[in-house]
Amino acid sequence: MSATDACCQQLATALHHSRGQSALWIADESPIDEATWQQLVQAGVSFASNRYNQVAEAERRGLKASFCDFDLKPAPGRSWDAIYFRIAKEKAVCHKVVNEAAQWLAPGGTLWLAGLKQEGMKSLLNKAANYFGMAPRMHRADHKVLLAQLMLGRAGEPLDDQNYGQLRQVETGPGQYFWSKPGLFGWQRVDRGSEFMVQELSHLSLSGRSVLDLGCGYGYLSASAAQLGAARICATDNCAAALAACERNLEPFAPAVPAQVVASDCAEEIAQKFDLVICNPPFHSGFSTGPQLHRRFLQSIRDHMAPGAEAWVVVNQFIRLEQLAGECGLQQLTRQRDGDNRFDLYRFALIQ
Ligand SMILES: C[S@@+](CC[C@H](N)C(=O)[O-])C[C@H]1O[C@@H](n2cnc3c(N)ncnc32)[C@H](O)[C@@H]1O
Repeated sequence: MSATDACCQQLATALHHSRGQSALWIADESPIDEATWQQLVQAGVSFASNRYNQVAEAERRGLKASFCDFDLKPAPGRSWDAIYFRIAKEKAVCHKVVNEAAQWLAPGGTLWLAGLKQEGMKSLLNKAANYFGMAPRMHRADHKVLLAQLMLGRAGEPLDDQNYGQLRQVETGPGQYFWSKPGLFGWQRVDRGSEFMVQELSHLSLSGRSVLDLGCGYGYLSASAAQLGAARICATDNCAAALAACERNLEPFAPAVPAQVVASDCAEEIAQKFDLVICNPPFHSGFSTGPQLHRRFLQSIRDHMAPGAEAWVVVNQFIRLEQLAGECGLQQLTRQRDGDNRFDLYRFALIQ
């Protein structure tokens, strides 16, 4: 059964307001269920998302879709009559979308927002209303979901989006810098699980080995593998901002370590196989957790391992991979717990 999101469902109920107009639906990782997809197709909206899988699905259904990092510029000479946005978890992203909407909506155009009260929806609405110069019209305000319509009047001051459009260098440790931005997984730090994996990787010679980093984020694991002498790197993620940051973080290793950064859903678009697959999967955060995603990642890991390859996967210790990995054709070599008792590092080979 596909995941659902009450806010996306509510937002879709407002689509009829823009029938015959030029409308844009913006999506991040919030799940869009079958009924909502059908409403989007029926309404003939344009679609934009920072998530590759959402764009691929929209295109499969015949929608005009763009994979972007919330740059909502319409075709030359055009503007949007309506923009629909189920608010994101990251405040900077919400502010960026409101600012972009003010820039690209036609005069009198409408921004539709849906979100939960506890997600800061009220505060976002207040700020957006100040910018748009009009009070929001509430279409639904139950104890959970808020659905609001904002008409573009005389634009005031843009919201503080923390300069979302730009990558910035973040000091993640003494003398250690990465390009990153708000909204990326652990964007201002190194994940402890990933750090644990790299500590263990440093005992291994990566020289001559090709490496796939599945779900690369801003590229901490990829950059570490490059530093440890990998022969070539392929890094992949489904998030537009992650790919841009990872590409930037791998630049210093070129041309000695050739690197490819690929937009894909669970590496589906990548045909090559690798000597080492490294992965800190998105099993513990966001909307898309659950056995289905676990299986897809483990199957993809298996499918991208060359004969004799290993896969290293780090997860929170409360997530058990033994059984599922076996079902997916992976033989567990070792499982190692980190010193803080928080993460497990699994090493897998292919079942012969
Ligand atoms: C836990 S983070 C790890 C990031 C990075 N490798 C690190 O170690 O810091 C998981 C990553 O998986 C990405 N991801 C989520 N779903 C994905 C999918 N279907 N296909 C590819 N990547 C995905 C997320 O965008 C995120 O960057």
